[in-house]
Amino acid sequence: MKTRLTIAVDRPTGRIHREIYGHFAEHLGRCVYEGLWVGEESSIPNVQGIRRDVLEALKKLNVPVLRWPGGCFADEYHWKDGVGPRESRRRTINTHWGGVTETNEFGTHEFMLLCELLGCEPYISGNVGSGTVQEMQEWIEYITLESGSSMADWRRANGREKPWRLKYFGVGNENWGCGGNMRAEYYADVYRRYQTYVRHYGDNRVFRIACGANAGDYHWTETLMREAGRYMDGLSLHYYTVPGTWMHKGPATGFGEREWFATLNKALVMDELIRKHAAIMDKYDPEKRVALVVDEWGTWYDPEPGTNPAFLYQQNTMRDALVAGLTLHVFHRHCDRVRMANLAQVANVLQSVVLTDGPKMVLTPTYHVFEMFKEHQGAERLDCAVEATACGPAEFPVPRVDASASRSADGRIHLSICHADLEDSVDLEVVLDGAPGACPCVTGRVLTGPAPDAHNTFEAPETVIPVPLEEIQLDKGSFRVRLPAMSVAVVEIKVT
Ligand code: AHR
Repeated sequence: MKTRLTIAVDRPTGRIHREIYGHFAEHLGRCVYEGLWVGEESSIPNVQGIRRDVLEALKKLNVPVLRWPGGCFADEYHWKDGVGPRESRRRTINTHWGGVTETNEFGTHEFMLLCELLGCEPYISGNVGSGTVQEMQEWIEYITLESGSSMADWRRANGREKPWRLKYFGVGNENWGCGGNMRAEYYADVYRRYQTYVRHYGDNRVFRIACGANAGDYHWTETLMREAGRYMDGLSLHYYTVPGTWMHKGPATGFGEREWFATLNKALVMDELIRKHAAIMDKYDPEKRVALVVDEWGTWYDPEPGTNPAFLYQQNTMRDALVAGLTLHVFHRHCDRVRMANLAQVANVLQSVVLTDGPKMVLTPTYHVFEMFKEHQGAERLDCAVEATACGPAEFPVPRVDASASRSADGRIHLSICHADLEDSVDLEVVLDGAPGACPCVTGRVLTGPAPDAHNTFEAPETVIPVPLEEIQLDKGSFRVRLPAMSVAVVEIKVT
């Protein structure tokens, strides 16, 4: 199979916001406890309680932003339970996720430390469903006010002299569901009230994010933009890729060809959702001041057999790598409106980048996509046209080749390519439109596996890892490269 791809190297079409490469950590299953936090006394190597292997792995992704503490957990989280001496913190029940005891060992200070160690922006989701306005207001004050109030004094007494910088704050999570079962009309008013007290202390500016729609609930977006659009900086959107139905989602491994294409096809629904939500937002906000924040996305399968079903632990395969690549490309295309996205979730829950088992850790195929794509973060998007056919069954068509290109500040061009075909390799001719006589210098890496459900295990952690792309043939103003079936590749192009 042959395909031509053209990059308009001198035609930037917007900036790919770093924050679309964001992550999400909820108090759910083994995400926070074990996945990120093991405690200072643990035999697992750690930095002030945060496990070192995961920390080092995440640092390599240049994580721009981390969302916490939920998810559904956020709307029953009372932040005061999670500060002060750890041994005397209140113990509560995580009713949403398995009824397990929440020790509150990981709270505000631990989360802010994690963000500092990662060098990322914290994104905190406040409790609207079961929390008060005062509680929310005091949380912001505790975190960001230098001095002069009991909240600031309390933070200092708890060991943090200087205030933290808190850029992103979510006013509730899924308030149409687990966050209070509200109607859009009601939440719009509740949002207006709560956000009033999300204050900017000192020079800290909080970017206020309203709870947005569940997938295709356009009435929610319409109502929120009409009634509260002027009070928000961002509006969220949640969409999960479920190959089957919510009752029977399908397994994470051991799936067939139909499920491969069904999953990729459903991942691409993200494009339609963003287009339609963005069109509503354009009506009320033609200047595009309000960001669309896709703060939960990813695959959701049946839990792994033998694990606690409430913990949402699932394996991660080449199929997830393709979902990640295709979805990130969708975000690139909508970079005028989509300015943050958070993959659910960072460790041991849903489409994770790392999986852990006691002291062991493994990087998933999704991790490798985020690592390979990281040069796109903050880069200028370049127009990229692919002459490609669709593959897959008629009910679940998927573009055989999907690509996105960007140019970083130093002029390097990065081209990421998703190749969805299960059988054949593809010969790609990449034309650099705008650099006709130039001789490009091209290097690349490719991620593929021996089967659609190829994945990494604790015993075989390198089944799916990126390898150098061989046989790149250079020409004047173009190059050719062969991609194997079911692969994700990134090439770096230097045009001289
Ligand atoms: O990510 C798992 C859950 O999915 C989150 O807690 C919730 O916001 C969503 O429904």
